[in-house]
Amino acid sequence: MRNLRLGRRILGLMLAIACAALAVGAWAGDDKAIGQHAFEKACAACHGDPPVPRALPRDQMAKLTPEFIYQAQLSGKMVLNAAALNDMEKRAVAIYLSEIPWGSVKDAKAAEQLTMCASPAPLDQKALDKPHWSGWGLDADNTHFQPAAQAGLAPADLGNLEFKWALGFPTGASVSTQAAVLGGRIFIGGPAGGIYALDAKTGCAYWKFETEGEVRGAIQAYKRDDGTLMLIAGDRKAAVYGIDADSGKQLWKDKPEAHPWAMNTGSAAFHGKRMYIPFASFEELAGGSPTYECCTFRGSVVAYEVETGKRLWQSYIIPEAPKKTVVTAKGVQLWGPSGAAVWSQPTVDVKQNALYVTTGDAYSQPAAPTSDAIVALDLDTGAIRWHKQMTADDAFTAACVAHNAAPESKEGCGPDVDFGSSAILRTLPNGKRVLLAGQKSGVMHAVDPDAEGAILWQKRLSPGGVLGGIEWGYAADDKHLYVPISDVWETRSEPGAAGGIYALNFADGSTLWQTPAQKPDCVATPGCNAGQPQAAVLIPGALFSGAMDGHMRAYDPATGKVIWDIDTKRDYPTVNGVAAKGGSIKGAGVVVVDGWVYFGSGYGLWGMPGNVFVAYGPKGK
Ligand code: HEC
Repeated sequence: MRNLRLGRRILGLMLAIACAALAVGAWAGDDKAIGQHAFEKACAACHGDPPVPRALPRDQMAKLTPEFIYQAQLSGKMVLNAAALNDMEKRAVAIYLSEIPWGSVKDAKAAEQLTMCASPAPLDQKALDKPHWSGWGLDADNTHFQPAAQAGLAPADLGNLEFKWALGFPTGASVSTQAAVLGGRIFIGGPAGGIYALDAKTGCAYWKFETEGEVRGAIQAYKRDDGTLMLIAGDRKAAVYGIDADSGKQLWKDKPEAHPWAMNTGSAAFHGKRMYIPFASFEELAGGSPTYECCTFRGSVVAYEVETGKRLWQSYIIPEAPKKTVVTAKGVQLWGPSGAAVWSQPTVDVKQNALYVTTGDAYSQPAAPTSDAIVALDLDTGAIRWHKQMTADDAFTAACVAHNAAPESKEGCGPDVDFGSSAILRTLPNGKRVLLAGQKSGVMHAVDPDAEGAILWQKRLSPGGVLGGIEWGYAADDKHLYVPISDVWETRSEPGAAGGIYALNFADGSTLWQTPAQKPDCVATPGCNAGQPQAAVLIPGALFSGAMDGHMRAYDPATGKVIWDIDTKRDYPTVNGVAAKGGSIKGAGVVVVDGWVYFGSGYGLWGMPGNVFVAYGPKGK
């Protein structure tokens, strides 16, 4: 009897274990089925085979961490596209898509063991008078030119650069950050949010400031009335911060944009005690959801008193508020005009008392005349003085390409050829001035800032398209303009066909030299591409341009010859204990200060993912 009972109990236990095991097995199977089903339901319309323009193909999604794919649906770019999924389905689709196991990336905060500096010295408040890098364009003309005294690096020194330290970002698969360097410190925006203040030479940490979203625009330093330095940064939740550069304490914060999809990517332009910061949005992607009432965001610029964060004016690039347009067959109300995001830092023109911005495409019909345009605003009031549209009727959202979008939202779609980079202002030997702006269409435009944007010359440098043509930026000296070419999307079946750089005489657009892309050494890897979307940066004797093949290169600005080349597709030891590797290079350009070169590597969106920020410095120092 007793034995039987024991036997039964054991049997029961075994059964229970077997059932549990079965349940686990069944659950794992279900998970995959749920993920696959969720993918078909909510994602395949764009990420299926073939993917629609700009949407990542499956093999590239597989290289992203499941946490990143999950976050994109929870609080990132895919929130609305994933709106029909519950939390479990969002996780399941992430696990289904990624080849990396869930949980291999530790919780961001736990994974990050920032090594604090042992004897932190106070910030040198005179740092702006010494070699430094602050902001995007480096001067009011936005040239992206770092003079010799600041760069401290001659072309002959390039061969003597060695890897010094790296910071690993705990989450995120795409690094696009423009650091600032001053007073021996480097300030870096992380892809998962936050600003790190590190020692520029060793990478030890002074502080980390938490932000609501990723800081993509350049971090900029401002000298306050009391002589102390303040940092200005904006984030992808459209928050703007004034931060004490020494302590990392917040001095002010503002969120001027009420639109839920607004974000900041372009850095502030400073003029005297004022600054002008631009706003863009994700609404173009939200527009891909068949139930979304597309679209109501309008690009804008906000002027602030830098010291206090007091708002002075906000100017909408489309002055007219969006109105109801048509109702789709599914009963969804559409709105317009919308769009004309401002992605990049404005350019200040003291002579005209004007501010120039370049704008993105329209989202909905009717496409505003200020979309895909160069727009001049009054510096004092923000009123639009003139605009020069380069592509008319370019209304585009993800609905234009999504396989399941309402037919109404596919009507009259444009080519999606935003301006993504800042205009450069230059003076010619004859005293006339020229404003230079490159577009995703692959065309470089030169207009007359003193004649309401009259076209001086235009030159097509590449076929262009949804991932640029000309994407993140170019650089100029006194005579020439250096323009790297992206064309990443258009050439994905032929990864070596993208890229290249042009040196143009900016007086007339004539070509000084053109260097085709280097042959990519990674064609077997998804996302490998020779495209050069990254913003070019110039120092005397060296032009820096990173590529989607993971290489950072410097070119001789006189001849276009490659004079320095390092491959960042490798593992890097990090100062914060996070396993890190480099990948495709995209986004903001290098920072060159005092003989050192700093940049981020890893761009999983249409490229090879990675999560590292690296510092290279002179050997033996
Ligand atoms: C309407 C089209 C569309 C749908 C539907 C869609 N996506 Fe996307 N997705 C895109 C596009 C376009 C991009 C590129 C975004 C950009 O241009 O920055 C993108 C980007 C992404 C990214 C990269 C995000 C980042 O921050 O870089 C992830 C991850 C992603 N999608 C996952 C998903 C998942 C998962 C689903 C389904 C739940 C989904 N997407 C549904 C169009 C779509």
